[in-house]
Parts: sequence; structure tokens; C-alpha cells
Amino acid sequence: MIPWVKSIAEVRQAVGEARARGLRIGLVPTMGALHDGHVHLIERCRAAADFVVVSIFVNPTQFGPSEDFTRYPRTPELDRDRAASGGADLIFGPTAEEMYPHGPNSTCVEVVPFAGIFEGAIRPGHFRGVATVVLKLFSIVEPDLACFGQKDFQQQCVIRRMAEDLNLRLSIQIVETVREPDGLALSSRNRYLDSDQRRGAVVLPRALKKAQAAVAGGVRDAERVRQILHDTINSEPMAQLDYAEVVDAETLGVLTGLEAGRTAVALLAVRFGATRLIDNAFLPE
Ligand code: PAF
Repeated sequence: MIPWVKSIAEVRQAVGEARARGLRIGLVPTMGALHDGHVHLIERCRAAADFVVVSIFVNPTQFGPSEDFTRYPRTPELDRDRAASGGADLIFGPTAEEMYPHGPNSTCVEVVPFAGIFEGAIRPGHFRGVATVVLKLFSIVEPDLACFGQKDFQQQCVIRRMAEDLNLRLSIQIVETVREPDGLALSSRNRYLDSDQRRGAVVLPRALKKAQAAVAGGVRDAERVRQILHDTINSEPMAQLDYAEVVDAETLGVLTGLEAGRTAVALLAVRFGATRLIDNAFLPE
């Protein structure tokens, strides 16, 4: 069975031994409730590293006061199997006391340009919590490589910018989104959808596909693409749109036009009842 360690000392010991054997260390940070999207991340990490650590920590500092920290799914047995099936060598599953001995807000990292836009505007403090815990995991595990999903597009922008700005010595790999057969992006939150909402949720990938098709067909006006996203989401009565935007893939700056040489991405956040789904897609150049 794959080892599951809880203390920083234990994970450092195991990683130190692997490194002494000349192995390249990979890290996949997660909050558990592992699904096939995580397994794919772990497999990708495994392909690029020799010793893969999966961290499982439901990080309290990235949840807002009205968010689902206590009801966030915790499935340790399943997680152990899934991590093993992706090829992980070790699980690091610390307690909050182990991670934040001086309390959760003692020292924080803020990636300023992304902190207050899109997810950051709707979830104040969220990315401060993410950046801080990820930097801590990097400094605990000291991986050569860490993998994150494209699905959380703004999160990966935050982490890549943090790594650049703080001159971190690791490579960050972004792994494409895994989808259900009908196109819905895998997410730990999909389990909160009832069967009607689940059927309706397919409107997210449908909107993204329409936007991609419009751009492939020659549309260059970002406002037109935005309108396609809005109209498609609004055609689903259960869907409540938080935002649908066409942005620069590096800066997340809102675009007015699509130009050659600049990568654009469509970002979506849509609510179904109390459940909030996000998704994104690159737009063809
Ligand atoms: O994407 C997640 O599951 C979390 O935000 C992360 C990166 C593990 C930090 O807690």
C-alpha cells in the first residue's frame, strides 16, 4: 500500500532518500476527493518525474466564510487507491496544525495582479490562501516539478506568476482538463449537482465549443465571442452566469479583439443552485 505520511519531517525524510538515489521529485498538490482528472495529473507527473508525492490537504485559508470548507468531500480510502493508480509513491496528508502552527494568517503570499479579478473578486482572499499553501508545499517537498490542472485557469496563472516572481527553482507543468463523455469538466464539485442540474451543466462545454467554432470560422471581435458565451449559457434556464470573458491567457486582461501571436482564453463561471462551476478553453489563433 502507498505510504501516507502526516508530518513535514516524514515527507522530508522520504523525499530526501529519493533524492539521494538520484530521483527527480514530482509534486501534485490536491485537496483530496480525487477523481479521474487528478489521476491524469498524477500520471503526467509520473511521466516526467521518478518519485511522485501527492499532497492531500483541504486548505482552510482558501475558503471564504460562506464557502464549503466543512462540507468539502473527504474520501481518504478512495484517494489512496486513486493516487496509487496514477503512479504516486507517497501521500502527504498533514493536519492544519502541522501546516499552520502559528495560525493560518501568520505569513501570506499575495500574487497581486490576479488577487481581485474573476475568481478573486467573487472569492476575496481565495488566491492568497492558494498561493500561501502551495508555496509552503513547495518548500516542504522541494520538488523539481509540480503539476496543476488547466481547469483552474486563474489558479495556474497565480502559481506560475508566483514561481516567476519569487524565482522558485522548479518547473510548473499545466495539464489539460479531463472531461466526461458529454464534455463536462471533471470537478470535485460536480457531485453536488442534482440530476437536472447535471444535465444542464453541459451548457458550459457547449458554450466554449461554440466560441471556439466562431473564432475558427473567422470571428475576431472578442465582444462577439463574449456574446456567444452569454447567449449559450443564458439559454439554459437553471444556469446563473457569474462571468463569461475573453481574456489574454497570460495576464487575464480582458480583450477587445483577437490578434495573431496573442493567446486568448474564454473563461466561464456559472452557478447551478448553490454549486459553482468554472471552465475555460483556449481560442484558436
Ligand atoms: O486545486 C486545488 O485543489 C487547490 O487549490 C490546491 C492547489 C491543492 C491548493 O490547496
